[in-house]
Amino acid sequence: MQIVSTIKEVRTQVKEWKKQGLTIGFVPTMGYLHEGHASLMHRAKKECDKVVASIFVNPMQFGVNEDLDSYPRDLQADAKLCESIGVDLIFHPEVEEMYEQGFCSFVDMNGLTKELCGKSRPIHFRGVCTVVSKLFNIVTPDKAFFGQKDAQQLAVIRRMVKDLNMDIEIVGCPIIREEDGLAKSSRNTYLNEEERKAALILSQTICLGERLVRDGVRDAKALVDAMKENIAREPLAKIDYVEVVSMDTIEKIELLEGAVLVAMAVYIGKTRLIDNFIVELVNL
Ligand code: PAJ
Repeated sequence: MQIVSTIKEVRTQVKEWKKQGLTIGFVPTMGYLHEGHASLMHRAKKECDKVVASIFVNPMQFGVNEDLDSYPRDLQADAKLCESIGVDLIFHPEVEEMYEQGFCSFVDMNGLTKELCGKSRPIHFRGVCTVVSKLFNIVTPDKAFFGQKDAQQLAVIRRMVKDLNMDIEIVGCPIIREEDGLAKSSRNTYLNEEERKAALILSQTICLGERLVRDGVRDAKALVDAMKENIAREPLAKIDYVEVVSMDTIEKIELLEGAVLVAMAVYIGKTRLIDNFIVELVNL
C-alpha cells in the first residue's frame, strides 16, 4: 500500500492503473478510521480493481466554533486498518497541497442544504462539495463510496454529481453501529463514560421512530414530537434538530410518503452526534 501526499503522485499512479484497464474505487474520509469507514473500503474492494482512500481533515467544512483543531488524527492506525483491508493507495495531503495560496473557487449548492445539518452548519456543505469535487478531479474514480450515516451529505453528493455531469457512480452504504446501537463516529471519542451511555438516546430514538412508522404513523409532526419527547428524557442530551424530509430534495414534508429521511442531530454534552433512518413508503 502506498501513502502519498501530493496530487501529482496520485495522478501518476491512477493513470498507470487506468492504462492497465483497471477500475478505481474511492473512499474519501477525514481519518481516525473505524468500522464505518472500513465497511466502505470493503465494498470498494469488492466492486473495483484498485481502491484509493483519502485522509484529509478539510478545514473548509468546519465552522469557526467547531472542532477543526481537536478533530482526532492517527495516521499510523489509519494506515494499518487500510492495509489490512487491501486499500492500494492512501492520499494524505497537507492543507497547502489542497488549498494553495490564492484559492478562490467553490462548489456550492442552492438546494438540499437548507435543512438539517445545513441549518446549524451554514458553510459546511460548501466545504464538503468543494473538497469532494477536488478529490474527484484528483483521483478520477469510477465509483465513490459514502455512508448513509451522513445521509444529507450522500444526497448532496449525488445531486452534485448529477448536476455537474461528473462521470462517477456514487454508492451509498449502510450505517455501521457499535454493539449497543450507537452509530460509529470519529467524534464518539470525545465522549466520557457518562456521555457515552447517554449517547444511546440517539439510536434508541431511531428505533422508536422506526417502530412508530412501522405501526402506521404517517404524520411528520407526530413522529418528530414523539422522538423529541424521548430524547428529552436524557438530561445530558440537547436537541439540535429532529426532522422529517424527502430523501431526494431534503425538504421538510408533513406526510410520510415516498423515500423519507428521518434525521437528528443531538448534543451530548459538547459533542454533536447525528443519526437517521430512511424509509420507503407507498401510501395507498
Ligand atoms: P468522515 O466523517 O471521515 O466520513 C467518511 C465517510 O465514512 C462518509 O461517507 C461517512 O458517511 C462514512 N461513515 C462515517 N461513519 C459511518 C458509519 N458509522 N457507518 C457507515 N459509514 C460511515 O464525511 C466525511 O468524512 C467528510 O465530509 C468527507 C466526505 C471526507 C469530505 O471531507
